[in-house]
Amino acid sequence: MPSLQPYSTFGLAASCDSIQSFTDVASFLSIFNTQNNKTNNATYILGGGSNSIFTDDFDGTILVNEIKGISHFDTESHHYLRVGAGENWHDFVTLCMKEEWYGFENLALIPGSVGACPIQNIGAYGVEVNSLIEKVECVFLETGEQVLLSNEDCQFGYRDSVFKHALANKVLITHVNFKLPKQYELEVSYGELAALTEPTPEKVYSKVIEIRKSKLPNPSELGNAGSFFKNPVVSNAVYQAIAQEYESVPHFVVSDNAGNEQEQIKIPAAWLIDQAGFKGKTLNKVRCHPTQPLVLTNLGGATGSDVITMAKNIIASVQDKFGIQLEPEVRLLGNKGLISL
Ligand code: FAD
Ligand code: EPU
Repeated sequence: MPSLQPYSTFGLAASCDSIQSFTDVASFLSIFNTQNNKTNNATYILGGGSNSIFTDDFDGTILVNEIKGISHFDTESHHYLRVGAGENWHDFVTLCMKEEWYGFENLALIPGSVGACPIQNIGAYGVEVNSLIEKVECVFLETGEQVLLSNEDCQFGYRDSVFKHALANKVLITHVNFKLPKQYELEVSYGELAALTEPTPEKVYSKVIEIRKSKLPNPSELGNAGSFFKNPVVSNAVYQAIAQEYESVPHFVVSDNAGNEQEQIKIPAAWLIDQAGFKGKTLNKVRCHPTQPLVLTNLGGATGSDVITMAKNIIASVQDKFGIQLEPEVRLLGNKGLISL
């Protein structure tokens, strides 16, 4: 039984029936059809495993995406990139910086694969990847039919897309196509980026890397999957009730995709967890990270049930104190596939 520990940045000890990688659509379909026809055999597509936590042994086959390749052309106004889903995200961003294909600088150092970036619409430091995606190439698992989804088809939202809903477990993403305007304004409004003098894409890229290294644990040194929970988006009434008691509650007004402001407020889950007293706390072998309480870490030898217990305790405490239900951002897997808490 192969170990899944090296395939997930959280690094829990778990095994599966088999792990098979593929480098093109034909080999993927051949492996998928063979495995899918076996009775009681689950399958799970994996990129870099930086958002997937295996809480138990997996009764099935892990399909590791290694579709590579980056092609580029440009027009007077835009750069166009077609990128294989198995390319490493940060290596791709770094290449773009070297080539002066700017736009990705705020998204530097996010672990994982290019193919996973549309799934939860990765975001950091004021930029979400949906603003740079033109279309996504996919293959339907059951039929092998290839489809091209426009940006609109992907129904992107905060840490959300059609791939978590109507198309969940139905498609393999094979390539992501990006469209980068040559003229654009650098996004430097988030946190410490605002202090940059005469910002350039290179300065933003370096600063983002510096901030991330100072706050977030490096998965190759300390197992983790980034933010364990999403930042909750609440009504203005819920926010006002909290603000009456905690004047300094951090908050951000949420805009819809058309840029209109709605009466919805995002409250950092890190603050809620911090206030609930979990920052730096350890339960069994799982720790709530001291410099970013939204991240849970594996101190070494943690089990799936340790992770689930810690997560449920945090959810219950935040619910009890603030009446807000935290939702996991990470993908938790049990022995048959995705599970919820
Ligand atoms: P995996 O964990 O391998 O897969 C994630 C999901 O996508 C799974 O459900 C999987 O089945 C599915 N999937 C993967 N590839 C494909 C494909 N080709 N076709 C179909 N389905 C697929 N995220 C952010 O948004 N912003 C951050 O700032 C950020 N910081 C992080 C920091 C750290 C230290 C860590 C460990 C994680 C962080 N993350 C962040 C989360 C993570 O990096 C992203 O979610 C990333 O996109 C996951 O990529 P992956 O290839 O590792 O995904
Ligand atoms: N905060 C505290 N206590 C702390 C740390 C933070 O109260 O110990 C509060 C502060 O008010 C701070 C706020 O939380 O201003 C936000 O913190 P931070 O800027 O670190 O961002 P975040 O909201 O916690 C989100 C993403 C990260 C992304 C950063 C930067 C989610 C779930 N997380 O974190 O993404 O890198 O913003 O843009 O949206 C991930 O998805 O895995 C991830 C790491």
